[in-house]
Amino acid sequence: MSNEAKLELEGKTFTLPTLVGTEGEKAVDVSTLRATTNYITLDDGYGNTGSCTSKITFIDGDLGILRYRGIPIEEMAEKSNFIETAYLIIYGTLPNRAQIKTFSDLLTAHQFLHEDMTYHFEGFPTGAHPMAILSSMINAASCFDEGLMNWHWGKTKEFEVYVAKLISQVRTIAAYSYRKSRGLPLIYPKQNYKYTANFLHMLFSMPYEDFELKPEVVKALDLIFLLHADHEQNCSTSTVRMVASSQANLFASCAAGVCALWGPLHGGANQAVLEMLAQIHKEGDDGSKFIEAAKDKNSGKKLMGFGHRVYKNHDPRAKIIKKACDEVLAKLHISDPLLDIAKKLEEAALKDSYFVERKLYPNVDFYSGIIMRAIGIPIEMFTVIFAIGRMPGWIANYKEIMEEPKSRIYRPRQIYTGPTQKHYIPLDERK
Ligand code: COA
Repeated sequence: MSNEAKLELEGKTFTLPTLVGTEGEKAVDVSTLRATTNYITLDDGYGNTGSCTSKITFIDGDLGILRYRGIPIEEMAEKSNFIETAYLIIYGTLPNRAQIKTFSDLLTAHQFLHEDMTYHFEGFPTGAHPMAILSSMINAASCFDEGLMNWHWGKTKEFEVYVAKLISQVRTIAAYSYRKSRGLPLIYPKQNYKYTANFLHMLFSMPYEDFELKPEVVKALDLIFLLHADHEQNCSTSTVRMVASSQANLFASCAAGVCALWGPLHGGANQAVLEMLAQIHKEGDDGSKFIEAAKDKNSGKKLMGFGHRVYKNHDPRAKIIKKACDEVLAKLHISDPLLDIAKKLEEAALKDSYFVERKLYPNVDFYSGIIMRAIGIPIEMFTVIFAIGRMPGWIANYKEIMEEPKSRIYRPRQIYTGPTQKHYIPLDERK
């Protein structure tokens, strides 16, 4: 079989190279197309465009496969934890004992923010969305490290410190963002707490009164972080790569990722799920009216937490998290009308031909929203939790861009459809 593609344009035949990934995905390499044919490819929404080659995460949307550095998500969820997963995603291999100890020690060493940063939190009004605070403060954190500003790719030891700083501090910033948004006093991290427990402590403890850390709650949140750790070239990761391609620093690139993640069609979906459930409840509906509305294009409603651009069969993360969700709800003995509506929606939509025919299944956001509600995470923090989880993926993608010797600034083209040339009309001559 030929490993070239033939393209006929204006009576001429052009040859384009093809390539095959390690899992057999195929691509036509069009990187020379414009130079040789004066055509570009047009792919609104990038559904058919590979923006890069990457060694980090493999997804097969039809088969419902997700692997971090080759390891199935199911194995990571069962046997690992978020911090080990972060190491794997960023550095490419599972850490040995010495490596995980060094990584954990670095995380602990860098978990405190520069004390002057706390004054920046004062500038935000009470009620500011924590995602806005998070993206601003990640960027601000880079100003407190002169080295980062003047750092050039290649100094590996320094990069390891910046990685640890970002992963550790994003959690501290996230917790402070929440405390600030509620007008609560800031709580410092503890040296002896592990990553996820420390986050819950900073989120919920009060001065002189530590939050009770239930193991099932810590485990469920750690699992949410782990399941979100990377998801190849989605909207926010592509944004991070886009910004990184201009050689912006690690913190600036990841802060841009936070902004991209905020939207309700991406990371904001878990918040949108709960808002939808609250609205259904407020209207006295049990979900059945809403399902009908979600099927009607003119209603402007969608069943949030259903559907996925890539997974058209099942979302493997949703399978794992559904089980965790059932376990947490059973263990915490929670009775919540919104969770009852969620169960009803899930059952009804899975039987409804509209959703079945379009392959719209509950995605990870549907269940993570329910778990977070059950363990008391405030709704406006849902997307922030996603951002903490996704940080290793963004960092790994940043690293890949920096390590690529032929890396060029990302700069897509367009097909212009605006007016052709016309001339400036002075103000008093305009109609
Ligand atoms: N509720 C109702 N209908 C939906 C739907 C939903 N959640 N998601 C998709 N559809 C419908 C579309 O209207 C379209 O119908 P049509 O074929 O009759 O025109 C069809 O299903 C295909 O959807 P499309 O918009 O092409 O899918 P997409 O791949 O572009 O979008 C999402 C994927 C995730 C953006 C989309 O499913 C969505 O908005 N889901 C809700 C938000 C969400 O949970 N996002 C988190 C993703 S992890």
